[in-house]
Amino acid sequence: MEYEIKRFQADAAIIGGGVAGLSAALGLKNKRVIVLTKSEFGRGGSTPIAQGGIACAMGKDDTPELHAVDTMIAGDGLSIKGCVDVLTREGPARIRELIEVGAQFDRTPDGELSFGREAAHSRRRILHAHGDSTGAEVQRALTEAVRRAENIQVIENCYVVDIIRRDGRVIGVYGIINGTSTIIEVASPAVVLACGGIGRIYQYTTNPVESVGDALAIAARAGAVLSDVEFVQFHPTALNTTVDPLPLLTEALRGEGAVLLADNKRFMVDLHKDAELAPRDVVARGIWAQQQKGLPVFLDARCVGEKFPEKFPTVYSFCQQAGLDPVKDLLPVSPAAHYHMGGVRVDESGRTTCLGLWACGECCATGVHGANRLASNSLLEGLVFGARVSQDIVEQIDWTKPTVIRDGDYSPVMQRTFAGPDEEADASLLRKTMWDDVGLVRCEASMTHALSVLDELSAKKPKSLMLRNMIDAARIITTAALDRKESRGGHYRSDYPEHDAQTSHHPFVFTGNGPWC
Ligand code: FUM
Repeated sequence: MEYEIKRFQADAAIIGGGVAGLSAALGLKNKRVIVLTKSEFGRGGSTPIAQGGIACAMGKDDTPELHAVDTMIAGDGLSIKGCVDVLTREGPARIRELIEVGAQFDRTPDGELSFGREAAHSRRRILHAHGDSTGAEVQRALTEAVRRAENIQVIENCYVVDIIRRDGRVIGVYGIINGTSTIIEVASPAVVLACGGIGRIYQYTTNPVESVGDALAIAARAGAVLSDVEFVQFHPTALNTTVDPLPLLTEALRGEGAVLLADNKRFMVDLHKDAELAPRDVVARGIWAQQQKGLPVFLDARCVGEKFPEKFPTVYSFCQQAGLDPVKDLLPVSPAAHYHMGGVRVDESGRTTCLGLWACGECCATGVHGANRLASNSLLEGLVFGARVSQDIVEQIDWTKPTVIRDGDYSPVMQRTFAGPDEEADASLLRKTMWDDVGLVRCEASMTHALSVLDELSAKKPKSLMLRNMIDAARIITTAALDRKESRGGHYRSDYPEHDAQTSHHPFVFTGNGPWC
C-alpha cells in the first residue's frame, strides 16, 4: 500500500484534545501549536462525558490545605504532598480562568458559585455545570477557546503511532488518519501526551472508545518511566446494562442519599462507617462481593424524587434509554473501570523522563492521586498541570534551534488504526481477561494467567494500533500489579489483603524494556 506523508512543523505537538491537552495548548500563547485528536475534535475522550464536577477550594469555609488533606487521605499513603499542594493551591486561579473563557458553572439563586459535596470531601467544594454535565461544559468552553486561537491548529481523526526521537531527545510525532493511508508527521521540539486513560482494556468500563492506554504504550516504547500503574479505580455504580461503555450513575446520587441494595437490604452499612459514601474502592468491592454471591445489586435513588430530570439530566436520559424511571425504579448497578491513577511519570511541571516529552491529565502520574483518586479531582488536575506543562515548555525549549525530522528518524508502521472485525475477538478476550484476572480483586495466579493470554495475543502480531497499545498497556499494568505484594487503594490482592507499610510504601516505577507489541 502506498502511503502519503503530510509534514507539519510546530513549536509544540499535543496528543489529545481533552481538558489537559487543551489547557496546555491555550497556555502556549505565542507558539505554533498542533493538537492531534484521535476522534472528532471536541467530542471524543473522557472530558465531555465527565458527570462528576470539579473539586476546588473556593467556598467560604474551605482552604487549599483542607482540600489537600482530603486528597492525601484518599491517596492511601501514596500521594505526593508537593504535587497535591500544587493542585489545591493553583486550582482556584485555573477555575477563574476557565470561567473567563466562557465556562458556566451552576450558581445559587443569588449568583454565587454553588458547591456540592461528594464522598471523602470534608467540605462542599464540587462545582457542577448543568447538574451532571460538567465535563461537557468544560469541553465546550475549551474547544471554543481553541477554535478562536489563531496559533493552534487541530488535526482530528489522527491516531498517533509513536514519538520520534534523535540523539536522546524528542523531535516530533507521527500518526495515521483513521481509515486512510495518510501519515501525519509533526516536527516539534516539545511533545505532550494528554491522551487519557486505559478503561477500555477492561470488559466493563465507563470510559469512551478512545481510552485504550495509548499514552502508556507510546511512552513505554519511547523508554519513559511509568509509575503507580497498578492502581486502577473502579467506579462502584455504572448502570448494569448491555451497552458499552456502561453509563455512569454519578456518585452525587449517593451524596443526595441514594442507597445500595442487594436482596432488598443495605449491605454497605455493615462494611464501612460511611456506608454508601465510603471510599470508592471499598464500595466497589462491596458490590463485587454481593455479585460473587449471585446477588444483583441496585441503586435506590428514588429519594431524589421528581426533580431527578432537572438535577441529573444525563443520568435520567441514560435510565430512560434503558427503559428505567429512576424516580420510581431501582437501578441495577455494577462496578466498572473508571480512572487510571498511574501513568507516565512526571514531575510538578509535567516533565517525563524523556527529554522533550511532557504529559498531563489522566495518562500521567503526577503523584496527586496516589493509590486512589479523590472524586472530582481529575478535571482540576488536567487544568492545573496542563497549564504548568505549557509554562515549562516555554522555559525549557531552546527556541533558536530548528527541529528537523530526517529520513530514517522513524520507519512508518504501515498498519491500520482501530481493530477490524478480524481482531475484535482478540480485543474482547483481552478485556475479559483483564476484568477477570486483574480487576477489582487480583492474585498471583490470576495475573500470571493474564500475562500468558497477553503473550498469546501479541504472538499473533496484531495489525491495529489499538490492539497493540491495549496489549502493551495491559501487560504494563499486570506486571506492576504482580510486583506490588500488598493491598492499597485501587489495588486489592486476595493473596496479600493487608497494607504492607514496611516494604511497599512507595510508587511502583516501571522501567521495563518490553517486549512491546
Ligand atoms: O461519580 C462521579 O460523578 C464521578 C466523578 C469522578 O470520577 O470524578
